[in-house]
Amino acid sequence: MTAGDQKKYVGARVSRVDGPAKVRGEATFAAEHDLPGVLHAVLISAACAHGRVSRLDTAAARQVPGVLDVFSHQSDGWNMGKVGGYPRGPAGTSLLPFQGPEISYRGEPVALVVAQTLEAARHAALLVEIEYDRRPHHATLQAALDGPLLARKPLPPLGHSRGKPGRILKHAPHVIERTYDTPVQHHNPMEMHAVIADWDGDERVTIYEPTQWMQSAQGTLAAALGLEPEDVHVVSPFVGGGFGSKATSWPHLLVTALAARVLRRPVKLVLTRAQMFAAVGYRAATRSEYRAALDGPQISALELHAHTQTGPADLFPEQVGMIPKMLYATEHMEFKQTLVQTHAGPNIMMRAPGEASGSFGLEVLMDELAAEAGLDPLEFRRRHHADTDPESGKPFSSKHLLECYDRAAGAFGWERRTPEPGSMKDGDTLIGWGMATAAYPVYASAATARARLHADGRVDVEAGSHDIGTGTYSILAQIAADALGTDLERVTVKLGDSRLPKNGYSGGSRTAGSVGSAVLAAAQGLRQELTDLAVNDPLSPLHGLAPIDIEVRGGALHAGTLRDPLTDILTRAGRDQHETYREIIPSGGGQKELDALKQGQDGMIEAVTDTHARYSFGAVFVEVRVDPDFMTPRVSRIVGAFDIGQVLNAKTAESQLIGGLIWGVSAALHEQGETDPATGLVLNANLADYHIPVNADIGEVRAIALNGHPDFHTSALGARGAGELGIVGTAAAIANAIHHATGKRIRSTPITVDKLL
Ligand code: MOS
Repeated sequence: MTAGDQKKYVGARVSRVDGPAKVRGEATFAAEHDLPGVLHAVLISAACAHGRVSRLDTAAARQVPGVLDVFSHQSDGWNMGKVGGYPRGPAGTSLLPFQGPEISYRGEPVALVVAQTLEAARHAALLVEIEYDRRPHHATLQAALDGPLLARKPLPPLGHSRGKPGRILKHAPHVIERTYDTPVQHHNPMEMHAVIADWDGDERVTIYEPTQWMQSAQGTLAAALGLEPEDVHVVSPFVGGGFGSKATSWPHLLVTALAARVLRRPVKLVLTRAQMFAAVGYRAATRSEYRAALDGPQISALELHAHTQTGPADLFPEQVGMIPKMLYATEHMEFKQTLVQTHAGPNIMMRAPGEASGSFGLEVLMDELAAEAGLDPLEFRRRHHADTDPESGKPFSSKHLLECYDRAAGAFGWERRTPEPGSMKDGDTLIGWGMATAAYPVYASAATARARLHADGRVDVEAGSHDIGTGTYSILAQIAADALGTDLERVTVKLGDSRLPKNGYSGGSRTAGSVGSAVLAAAQGLRQELTDLAVNDPLSPLHGLAPIDIEVRGGALHAGTLRDPLTDILTRAGRDQHETYREIIPSGGGQKELDALKQGQDGMIEAVTDTHARYSFGAVFVEVRVDPDFMTPRVSRIVGAFDIGQVLNAKTAESQLIGGLIWGVSAALHEQGETDPATGLVLNANLADYHIPVNADIGEVRAIALNGHPDFHTSALGARGAGELGIVGTAAAIANAIHHATGKRIRSTPITVDKLL
């Protein structure tokens, strides 16, 4: 913000501007778009983890009244071009559907039934007869580690080494070796993945799809079907959660679009909840093998060798080393990561990918090392506080972790903790207090936006970005209202249409900072242009003044007692509207990122730049209560304090942090994809058997966002992301609390009762 800005909304506790539409059912989600003549599709997923389709008989299915076609690799004209899988390409996987009989993972699409009604399509799908020639497979990380059929690929670019960790570990008198495991987890946004494809001829299509990145659908359809990206119009105004699963496009988009083109009718496909566990990515299982040398109360060397699961074709690393590499001041450190391919399907990022799973091992290890060193776990972490980034040697853009420790520990009452495991009780109930540090890199993107003022005072803000439930509509309205000195109610934010100014994917906790800064630039640019009109207009009360002396508030420009309403400036100029478009390149980036964005790529800028290491930080303290007879752990209290730079909306930021903390409870105690090694089937592919916490599992949760530390090295707003930080560290804090309550050190999540007996 600048001196001339109104300071009324940014930072305030503003309720979601899209909230009323959502609770009234007036917000139209992708699958709710009502297109005349729409056909209904049902996807058939492979019941085989590796092999080929040996027989696929659609005769009975085609007899069902209302069925128009059954598509599969046997259909004509389904040859597609090449699509790159994430992270390099726009799609979640480069394995394209229906290109042949080969099956690479359980759940891979094998056929699509299209009918007049959903009922007919579902019935017909049951009648499609499919047989497979099965080949050996590894459906889980453990199976693949036990005997690799597929390659294990070391990824040198992800590795890191500083100092001489090997030598120190070899000669150190006190070396602690520990292994930590995290399981597969599945994104389960409330809103299912869905597509409606509606063609205009053979070359132009409108796609209604809940997505975190419209340019992914454009890029994927363009590459596979030979279209021009701009001929793919993506409409995605509301997204009912994504968590990374909607950051890229999946094969079901392609088959739905092709079916609609062949049938010359709009086609709608909504995945089932079970298919959401098989075909839209997952958080990969990880194993972190640590060796740490202790020299008195100090870690003298740290080594992490990680194995992380990936899919059969594309190599997407769960970045477990991201935080261990940089969080603590250890002079000697080595990190190596090996990607282990499995037939579990393509994996993808899921809320704090790698940061969350990788922090589990690191933060439990810190608790174990603190105990070895005879120190309080918080004190042990303070002693290893990194003043500069140990990985790059660069200064942090802004770091207030010590304040997070103080605020959260104070609010929690940490000083009343007695160190001995099992020493704190409430009646018979065992009480455990544990804590962990959280950190998350600050990503940024080149970004673009448009702001428009109408002569009646209404303001439009337009950005081809998304609100995935995070509050984007609200914060962009707040930013524009302040920059234009107007009321929030006058601002309409338009998101989720690929014809709006291009932006990167809504993930990596970067939409607020990057798209927010583009909106700020557009709104400030608009104000500047109106100011220029006013000072050059002899009829304006501000005529001849220097723009620098002019402030904006109450819908008007002010200089001392002089005032000129923005709408008057427009009217005098004979205009009914004025609009301004702006492109921004956040610091650390360059023209390269902006060009990439405009060419349909992501345009992301890494956390460590030439000048700074940019991370958000936090501290999480939890209390667990464990029944001594049944060993059932309950999280009764969580306090987290987070350093996220300038808070844009106190309410939505807090909601994001609380959501992350609660997801951490889920990771610690509940969540796990149960993949059957024999068949590759996810056995708990529904929300009854795939456990997540319910209200009764969550006690008191308090998220404190530090105030007064804007970070202008990360965005013009000084804001850093809040979406992912809250989940990082939380599972470890709970594991540490359980150890404090019970004396049992559990090194894998989820911490289920069987592990505590
Ligand atoms: Mo997030 S995992 O970057 O959607």
